[in-house]
Amino acid sequence: MEKDVLILSIESSCDETAASVTKNGREPLSNIIYSQIDLHTLYGGVVPEIASRKHIEKINRVVQAALDEASVGLKDLDAVAVTYGPGLVGALLVGVAEAKAISYAAGLPLVGVHHIEGHIAANYVEHKDLEPPFLCLVVSGGHTHLVIVRDYDKFEIIGRTHDDAAGEAFDKIARAVGLGYPGGPKVDKCAKEGRPDAVTFPRGHVAGSPYDFSFSGLKSAVLNYLNSCRMKQGLDGSTVYSSKTGREDFDPHELIDPEEGITVADVTASFQAAVVDVLVSHTIEAAKEYGFDKVAMAGGVASNSALRAGMKEACEKNGMKLYYPSPVLCTDNAVMIGCAAYYEYMSGTRHGLDLNAMPNLKLGERGF
Ligand code: KG4
Ligand code: ZN
Repeated sequence: MEKDVLILSIESSCDETAASVTKNGREPLSNIIYSQIDLHTLYGGVVPEIASRKHIEKINRVVQAALDEASVGLKDLDAVAVTYGPGLVGALLVGVAEAKAISYAAGLPLVGVHHIEGHIAANYVEHKDLEPPFLCLVVSGGHTHLVIVRDYDKFEIIGRTHDDAAGEAFDKIARAVGLGYPGGPKVDKCAKEGRPDAVTFPRGHVAGSPYDFSFSGLKSAVLNYLNSCRMKQGLDGSTVYSSKTGREDFDPHELIDPEEGITVADVTASFQAAVVDVLVSHTIEAAKEYGFDKVAMAGGVASNSALRAGMKEACEKNGMKLYYPSPVLCTDNAVMIGCAAYYEYMSGTRHGLDLNAMPNLKLGERGF
């Protein structure tokens, strides 16, 4: 029997300080996440400087907790892995420095991991049957990509956003209606109280690029709609709906357009329907075109309940099998980094102590 491979992995690319120990890639022995969300909520979004400082403060304790929960010591490990891009440079640097220090002190191989490769790998953790090739929709706060996963470490991006990422659009609309940060989960919940067909918002398409995305037109349409409703009521349209932290008196049933009987929840549900429509139709069309019967989703927005329902229905209709991780593995975590690192480690990827944070690292780029 082959020896188990134990990897300590670290993730600090945005506002989560996370560490994990994984066994043979797909078996998490620990999953520690310190989320800074409450801190950033005060400012209506992630403040890079605060994120870096908090990572520095927390990283040692998060790593120790991951080792303790897994009941392993540094001597039991085979490698240390870390997200080295893309992300906020100051935030990434903290994880990279920590991983390099551990690698040097414990004499462990160092494996740098691409953050999106990690998000995709989150699917392997709970779906033991999933193997490449398959098509993956990656939808997070910073990325919206349609990716052909040719092998564990081979990717081809066939679609990308030309402007906002899907998660970014959710966050901006949440702020505009007064839900505050982080927007995605709040819009998801609020939309459950509304009608997805109450307002028809545009489905963004990019001429000549059938699998690319564009959400800025939709975002403007929703903002214009909200402003025109406010003005119809004789209010200043441009300022009322802009709340960083969320309005205390937020009510999903508040009438935005009393004449038409349209509520805030209706607007969020209609916005969400427009996003979901585009994400689902592009993914299914691409899967058909490239001949995939396995479709996966990854990233924070992959926890969206309407997206899950819409994609499930479309996949069933087209005889495709759908995979997505549990919500805790959709948003940033270190288990996904450990899983991706395992396949990189097995195929021989090793980084030196000159590994640097690469805020604009491209998927599939080796960075050494
Ligand atoms: O993957 P992630 O944790 O971080 C990045 O790598 O960006 O994704 C965070 C994004 C945020 O924009 C957040 O609003 C969005 O994922 N998100 C959601 C949901 N949960 C998180 N968006 C829509 N519906 C959700 N349930
Ligand atoms: Zn992420």
